[in-house]
Amino acid sequence: MKKVLGIGGSPRKGGNSDILLKRLLKGARDESVAAREIQLRDYQFQACIGCERCRKDKRCIGLQDGMQLIYPEIREASGLVLVSPIYNYNMTALMKSFIDRLYCFYNFGDERPGQWSSQLANQGRKAIIAVVGEQATREAAGMDLTLEAMRRPVKALGYEVIDELPVLGIFHKGKVKEYPQVLEQAESLGIRLASLL
Ligand SMILES: Cc1cc2nc3c(=O)[nH]c(=O)nc-3n(C[C@H](O)[C@H](O)[C@H](O)COP(=O)(O)O)c2cc1C
Repeated sequence: MKKVLGIGGSPRKGGNSDILLKRLLKGARDESVAAREIQLRDYQFQACIGCERCRKDKRCIGLQDGMQLIYPEIREASGLVLVSPIYNYNMTALMKSFIDRLYCFYNFGDERPGQWSSQLANQGRKAIIAVVGEQATREAAGMDLTLEAMRRPVKALGYEVIDELPVLGIFHKGKVKEYPQVLEQAESLGIRLASLL
């Protein structure tokens, strides 16, 4: 349970999100907490098809794909790190599809709209969200929209979002390596997450 799962949402291998995620997870490992990196681009999975079978089964059986390998990792790790580049003022389609596939963790009653809860709630789960974009200001990049779009479902699933890392003004693949202070910040957030689990 005292484990960190890092989810990378960039289609670009070796890019800025990858570098940030690795440093965040290094921070967790510095605290002697096991940390696993998953790059969504390496998994074959579909976007949620809204079949609603999970309402009865409490797990996703409608789509037997790569997400089935990720679900146990999510259950087992009390720490979660999500990293996405900004694409069109929001998270990438990969990250959005991943988040939508977490719908199976909700418990819904028969009444719609009605009460709901999360199978992941009240277990001390904690999360960090990191986002990287090209534009230099939060407004031009769409940073706040992206953070909000990621934060709300993560909180709804029952995680406490303990910190966020907005990284602006970074376009070229690997450019973030030229900003050691950003990488150090990522590492210290990883340390903080691990220490709070
Ligand atoms: C399809 C696409 C859309 C993008 N849209 C935005 C945007 O809306 N705002 C922004 O600041 N950067 C945008 N970018 C730039 C990326 O966020 C930026 O290059 C980032 O560093 C990529 O991260 P990565 O190396 O992890 O893939 C976009 C890039 C692509 C390919």
